[in-house]
Amino acid sequence: MNTLTKMALGLIGQLKPAPAEGYAMNTLPLPPAQTAGGAPLMQALRQRQSQREFDPAALPLQTLSDLLWAAAGVNRFELGGRTAPSAMNAQEVDVYAAMPGGLYRYDPVRHSLLMVSATDVRRVTGYQDFVDSAPLDLVYVAHHARMNLVPVAQRDSYAWFAAGAMSQNVYLYCASAGLATVIRAWIDRGALGQAMGLSSDEQVLVAQTVGAPKTGG
Ligand SMILES: Cc1cc2nc3c(=O)[nH]c(=O)nc-3n(C[C@H](O)[C@H](O)[C@H](O)COP(=O)(O)O)c2cc1C
Repeated sequence: MNTLTKMALGLIGQLKPAPAEGYAMNTLPLPPAQTAGGAPLMQALRQRQSQREFDPAALPLQTLSDLLWAAAGVNRFELGGRTAPSAMNAQEVDVYAAMPGGLYRYDPVRHSLLMVSATDVRRVTGYQDFVDSAPLDLVYVAHHARMNLVPVAQRDSYAWFAAGAMSQNVYLYCASAGLATVIRAWIDRGALGQAMGLSSDEQVLVAQTVGAPKTGG
């Protein structure tokens, strides 16, 4: 769907998910993340970039596992520590994965994807057309109820900051794994919140598309 159509549908409250492809599983267990190896950090930093052309092919489950772990995984089990920082360790930002087969929420402790909706929400995750056909659109959502200890005036900026750290982890993972990615804030947040069934306490921050880079022709 092109950008203008999305804008027009958004204006009349009709920007909606597509039916899911195939059978959406309630829980999608992920293989353990491969947390050794990859490109050296300085090389990944040298290659980090935004790309906006994606091969529609599904990502292997191992890749999904590794990139979700990079985004928000538990890296210190004794402390429940994560790969990305959060103010007062509130861990208020969840990563959702919009894929052709459904919308899932990443559970870092179980390292699993939990189904949120058996619909294909990808096209609602942003105004740009490539989000519809790329194999994965991540959505970073702030859960304000988890920020009780954070002063109200700071909650919004702290959540954005945490999402920024997570998205940079994904950028570096993608640079290391030869994947394309782009972080995106140009979103119809009302339409996306509705498509995801979010409550008024849950806030869409940013989305990030991931896939293999499109090859020529
Ligand atoms: C907060 C934020 C919002 C962004 N929103 C979008 C967006 O909606 N669509 C898009 O294509 N790129 C978006 N970008 C990506 C920037 O356009 C990109 O990072 C910039 O052009 C620099 O390119 P580079 O990431 O390759 O260095 C966003 C980046 C940031 C940090």
